[in-house]
Amino acid sequence: MRVIKKLLQSRPTRTQHTLSRFLSDFVKIVEVGPRDGLQNVKSIVPTEIKVQLIDKLSLSGLKSIESTSFVSPKWVPQLADGKEVMSRISRNPDCVYPVLVPNLKGLESALTCGITEIGIFTAASEAFCKKNINCSIEESFERFAPTIELAKENGIAIRGYVSCIAGCPYQGHVDHGSVAKVSQKLLEMGCSEISLGDTIGVGTPGKIKELLQAILPHLPVENLALHMHDTYGQAVANVYVGLDHGIRVFDSSVSGLGGCPYAQGASGNVATEDLLYMLHDNGCDTGVDIDSVIETGHFISGFLERINGSKVGIAKNPRS
Ligand code: HMG
Ligand code: MG
Repeated sequence: MRVIKKLLQSRPTRTQHTLSRFLSDFVKIVEVGPRDGLQNVKSIVPTEIKVQLIDKLSLSGLKSIESTSFVSPKWVPQLADGKEVMSRISRNPDCVYPVLVPNLKGLESALTCGITEIGIFTAASEAFCKKNINCSIEESFERFAPTIELAKENGIAIRGYVSCIAGCPYQGHVDHGSVAKVSQKLLEMGCSEISLGDTIGVGTPGKIKELLQAILPHLPVENLALHMHDTYGQAVANVYVGLDHGIRVFDSSVSGLGGCPYAQGASGNVATEDLLYMLHDNGCDTGVDIDSVIETGHFISGFLERINGSKVGIAKNPRS
């Protein structure tokens, strides 16, 4: 009895526990809804709506909003208006607006619209790389070399995506070693941040823990981000595992918009609203106003006539 009492006395309260865990840790959210989200919407969203979406998000305290991509319009017609979007948004000086580029041609277009950061993207799976960007992983590095050189000449920050870290829609299993090797190569080539993508959302907390324990001895945790799609509802839990392993940058998508057009059936990224709810309750500082993101989630879901993909957004619907 006395032992139990002692244990109860020494056990931290829930608040003490969560606050001591991540208190004062700043967590950067990279909002990818306007790019990862809208690239997968069947209809073409009008440029004006894209601009409104980005502008609303940039008033919520987000520090990074991936706004569009400069890929082939034949491959992704949804984002063919990238130049116009970038020239019409109202830039918040406290926010960066990265864009996705697959090659030199994409970067050359992006440079005409005042970009300061790009995302280049490859995969830990050969099969996915071929389907997504029509080349092998090795060839993707060859394409990136001149792209990175030009980006550096222009003082552009470079983020590197590694897709299919927890499984591939075409080849199934993906080796931890491949995730580590591709990430290392991107860092060596000049990327300052590597976003590890669970493209089809098949990761579970156990799998992500195993992956992180395998790769973290080989990679600097401060340069890593997680990009968790929520196809099977595991994304918030997977982010928590990342947080527990020292990762402090997470990608998310307002109202859970999106997916990848080259990964059939994959649903959107973890909803920004759901991620913020979990992070704030665990004592993390994001600088983001959750109510403002919730409002924006309803704006875009309403326009697209879709069910809001954020549980928090639905629970706290300011319009109901
Ligand atoms: P390709 O056909 O092998 O390229 O495509 P190519 O060099 O042979 O060129 C073919 C044509 O495309 C030419 O035009 C080029 O000029 C043009 P044509 O002579 O036929 O008229 N072209 C371009 N046009 C505009 N912008 C460009 C560009 N490059 C070539 N940048 C390519 C190769 C990479 C271009 C193509 O495969 C492509 O655009 N793929 C993009 C696929 C994509 O955007 N996927 C979704 C984003 S990735 C993702 O969602 C995953 C992520 O979220 C992380 C995760 O979840 O894991 C990041
Ligand atoms: Mg993605």
